[in-house]
Amino acid sequence: MCGIVGYSGHRRASEVLMDGLKRLEYRGYDSAGIAMVEDGHLALAKKQGELNVLQKTLPKFEGHTGIGHTRWATCGRPSDRNAHPFISCDGRLAIVHNGIIENYSALREKLEAEGHNFTSETDTEVIVHLLEHHYKGDLRQALTDTVSDVQGTYAIAAVKEGSEEIAAARKENPLVIGLGVKENFLASDVTALLSYTNKVLYILDGETVLLTPNGVTLHDQDGAEIQREPTVVTWSAEDAQKGGFEHFMLKEIFEGPNSIHNTLLGALDMIENGEVLPRIEFQSVKLVACGSSYHAAMVGKYAMEEFAGVPTTLELASEYRYSPGAREDPLVILITQSGETADTLAAAREARRRGCRTLAVTNVVGSTITREVDEVLYTRAGPEIGVAATKTFLTQLLAMYMLAIRIGYGNGTLSHDSMRSALSSLRQSSNFVQSVLNDVHSIEEVSRMLDNAVHCFFIGRNINYPTMLEGALKLKEISYIHAEGFAAGELKHGPLALLDSTTPVIAVAIKGDHTYEKMLANISEVAARDSPVLGVGVEGDNDLARLCEKMIYLPRVKPMFSPIPVTVALQVLSYYVANRRGCSIDKPKNLAKSVTVE
Ligand code: AGP
Repeated sequence: MCGIVGYSGHRRASEVLMDGLKRLEYRGYDSAGIAMVEDGHLALAKKQGELNVLQKTLPKFEGHTGIGHTRWATCGRPSDRNAHPFISCDGRLAIVHNGIIENYSALREKLEAEGHNFTSETDTEVIVHLLEHHYKGDLRQALTDTVSDVQGTYAIAAVKEGSEEIAAARKENPLVIGLGVKENFLASDVTALLSYTNKVLYILDGETVLLTPNGVTLHDQDGAEIQREPTVVTWSAEDAQKGGFEHFMLKEIFEGPNSIHNTLLGALDMIENGEVLPRIEFQSVKLVACGSSYHAAMVGKYAMEEFAGVPTTLELASEYRYSPGAREDPLVILITQSGETADTLAAAREARRRGCRTLAVTNVVGSTITREVDEVLYTRAGPEIGVAATKTFLTQLLAMYMLAIRIGYGNGTLSHDSMRSALSSLRQSSNFVQSVLNDVHSIEEVSRMLDNAVHCFFIGRNINYPTMLEGALKLKEISYIHAEGFAAGELKHGPLALLDSTTPVIAVAIKGDHTYEKMLANISEVAARDSPVLGVGVEGDNDLARLCEKMIYLPRVKPMFSPIPVTVALQVLSYYVANRRGCSIDKPKNLAKSVTVE
């Protein structure tokens, strides 16, 4: 969630750094700062609050080399003095850091005893003092020595007075170099670089890098220089802009059909040819994830059992690593759109430690998870800036179906014809999503039902139980309305006590699903408590409409694939409610796009 940028070249570095930090805002932050090499000396500017607070107080820096940071507090509260960058006691070195230094207390004690004066409450500050301790004229070597003293995770960038050099190192936090002509860039996220270059070098764990306007050198953890071919990023800077929509979230919802297309592109052929998951000799599957990705995993369980007949269990990533692990799971699938979620990364490591085969489903090429697992399936949804997962969640659903179909075909549960028919339903799913999007204004209209709600319930059964959990998560995270999702059959075991005319209930019932009649019965129970019901069902379903105050109609879809249009309809619903309430939709309070702390 913290962001790093660095620049050394011919431009005014402060402008490049502020622009890069702006593009990283979506990651979530509470303070920001930059360190510049100005007239041979280091100059610092940092402030608690949004970037415009920093911008207002920024001196007119002229230098061409600098580093910048957006901080999301983990150790030490948000404040000016806890903001990065940090400068050494002699004022000659400055650093920014993402991650957590676990042994910082012991290091701080030792450094203070040596006379280093600390000015903040952060773990990060030990890094600049260690760097000062080790610095003997070679910045990269000093950083190498520094990281060998620390335990924890990091992406670090360092500058020194009178120099165009930036040294950087990483462990379990992303870092990428952007290559230009007589200028080079550094960032924690490729989004910060795209308006300058699309040629990048991904830094791997344990590596250090030295960057100047004229070149970039990479070293492995033994200090040996390494060569790496640059990767050309196909995302354009424009991909990461709002493209005429009021919010990134709405733009990203509307990108759903195209994202689905990209997710399926190539992968369908690979499934038919058995190239995805080439080895399928396992008896059970475990799905591990956090937040929305966990809801995708829940849909995955239904799909896996339906299409592949494989017993499938679920675990939250934050719980998995501490679970007893009594039985080894032959295949552990980790789902994380960012590929950087700390809990999911820890779970991946634990799964491998337990000897499980691991597969990651992620959206971000080159993200940390891709290096922690045996196999990767990319969702290819494109960059998602809004904190609320929308198109990335949708494409995770597609990935779940694809994997289930692949495994089912591979283990003989699905015949060739059934496999092709299931894949053809997936192909059609972008049309279903498009048809929901063609009618967003009727969803906008019915969403007014929720405007004055303090509490909202979302209910569904079977494969639409998880989509209702996701619907509730979406509403609460962007509108701040208290929303809870329930398996509809559970209402009478407690939650029904909370229902009255002030609590709207959003209920999904897909005609043709084997739980449809039961859903109608549950909706009747709700209506009998005077709760206004917003029904979500297929076009022409008058039985459902009769029980509901308002309706969201979906195209006629096979029940098994209904989570795809249901998800999009509920994303749109939440969006309009939050927008009328004037909420900070793309950056909800207290939340961050990628949660890189456990
Ligand atoms: C959903 O809108 C949230 N942004 C959040 O629940 C998210 O899904 C969770 O933090 C997991 O993120 P990941 O997919 O990047 O691992």
